[in-house]
Parts: sequence; C-alpha cells; structure tokens
Amino acid sequence: MLRVNRLGRTFFAEVVGLDLAKPLDEATFARVKQAHLEHGVLVFRDQRITPAQHIEFSARFGPLQIHPMSQFNLDGAPEILLVSNDTHPDGRPVGIADAGRYWHTDMSYMKEPALGSLLYARAVPAEGGDTLFCDMTAACRDLPDDMRAKLTRLKAVHHFASRWSRESAKYGVRPPQTKEEQDRNPPVEHPMIRTHPETGEPAIYAGGFAVRVQGVPEQESAEILDWVEKWVAQPKYVYRHRWRLHDLVFWDNRRVMHQATEYPVDQRRHMHRTTVKGNAPFGIRGQSPNSSAAKLTELGL
Ligand code: OGA
Ligand code: MN
Repeated sequence: MLRVNRLGRTFFAEVVGLDLAKPLDEATFARVKQAHLEHGVLVFRDQRITPAQHIEFSARFGPLQIHPMSQFNLDGAPEILLVSNDTHPDGRPVGIADAGRYWHTDMSYMKEPALGSLLYARAVPAEGGDTLFCDMTAACRDLPDDMRAKLTRLKAVHHFASRWSRESAKYGVRPPQTKEEQDRNPPVEHPMIRTHPETGEPAIYAGGFAVRVQGVPEQESAEILDWVEKWVAQPKYVYRHRWRLHDLVFWDNRRVMHQATEYPVDQRRHMHRTTVKGNAPFGIRGQSPNSSAAKLTELGL
C-alpha cells in the first residue's frame, strides 16, 4: 500500500510501499506524479534498481536530457550522469565529484531546463554529503511586495561555462571545459519568477547558473542575486536530506533549488542521476518580464 509522508515544513515527502524495480501501473504512477507536484521532492528509500530501471521510471515523466559533460555519463547509458568521487585506474575522475555545491536548479542554463532530476545513491559516505533543498514556491509567496514586483519583471542570464570555470578554480577536481563544450551552451535568459506549468504556482527561479540580471547595472545585478540567494536559503524554506544507501530522490527543478555539501575526501560517494526535460520557463501571465529601458525606468530601477 503506497503512502506519502511529508518530511519538510512546506515540502519534501517520503514515498513508502513502492518497489521501483517493478513496472508501475497507471494508477500508481498517477499517484506518484500527483505527490511530486504536491511536495516538490520525493524520496523512495531502499530501492534496488539497475540503470535501465532508473531510466525507465524517469522517462515516464518526460524525455530525458543528456548532460553536456559527456565524459561523466555512464558508458552505454548516457541518460545517467555520474556524480561520484571514484577515479578510473589512470586517475581520471569517473564522475563530477564536486557537483552542485551552491544553490542551483538543474540545467537552468538551457532554453528548456530540467523538469526534474532523479538521484540514486549507490555509495554514501558515513558522514557529510547531505543535499539541501529549498522551496522556491514558499519563498516566493512570502516575498515583500516591492521585491515581488521587481523580480516579476526581471530576467536573469544563466550560463553553464561561467559556473563551471568558477567551480574548477575552487575545488581543483574539475577538468577545464574545452572550447567546444563552452560553446555548446550559450547564455540564456529566464524570468526570475516563473509559473509552474502544471500547478500554476509562481516560484522564484535563479540559482548558481544565473550570472547576471538583465537590464540593470552590474552592481545592482549582483545585489539582487545576492538578496535572492539569502532569501531562499532561510532555514524555514530549507530541508536537509541525509542520504541512506539506495535512496532515490526525485526533485522538481521548477519549484526547488538544491545544494550539495562536502564530505571526507577519503570516503566514497557514488550517485546516478537522470534528468527529465521541462518547458521553457514563462513568467506570470500579463506581467511577463520585460527588461526594456522604458519598463525599468517606470519601475524606478
Ligand atoms: C545533482 C546535484 C547534489 C548532490 O546531481 O544535480 O546537484 O548532493 N547533486 O550530489
Ligand atoms: Mn544539481
């Protein structure tokens, strides 16, 4: 019997009584999908799934996205991205060891970013390596009126290569991107408040791939990004997931951001991720972001 227990204050739930190694019937699938929309993040504990089963379950939610850093995708199943600190015999990293150590929403640097990501734990450290999640719908609902008005009309530029090079410099475990890899994902713009295409709820949309607010001076852009990050990271919006072996966590990238945390370097952490493609984000109907000078002047920006 399938049960869904909320774990966080406003979001995040545990789904009990489901074996994802077996095909789900339509009614069960519909309940899972509904729970995902309702809670934003679902954890399924103690799952023993093969890469093929992981892919099959994920693909029921939509077409899968292949991560652009192809050397970190699983051999023979590129739909699976390896988030791992394992190394090949010659010392090359098997996966992205330092993935996502900053608030972000997956693949926001694409025109059609991820709907959701499904991360499956195949080896977890004894301590550390938790993942933090924050509820951007709740954070959006509580915005002060002036900030809501401002963010509603703004767009941010998201850019993969900028973030990648910043992280390489910080931890020293990422290979630099080739020119071809950098050019594959040119900067894109997304509204800073997006409407969830299925629930209709507005949510803040920003995170670590957002490098610049469009149409405002650089100093102000930095201040806005900084303000948003502090706002959404308030403890009341955050849930910390402590991984157990064989957890599968499925989050809604349209509603939550997430952030990886560090763990001892001499311990293994090995995760498989699939990514479901979503829609091109749109703003609030009738108030869509417009970064033209006239509009910004009208807003006093
Ligand atoms: C990811 C990610 C965080 C983690 O896989 O998209 O950000 O804790 N991972 O591994
Ligand atoms: Mn991520």
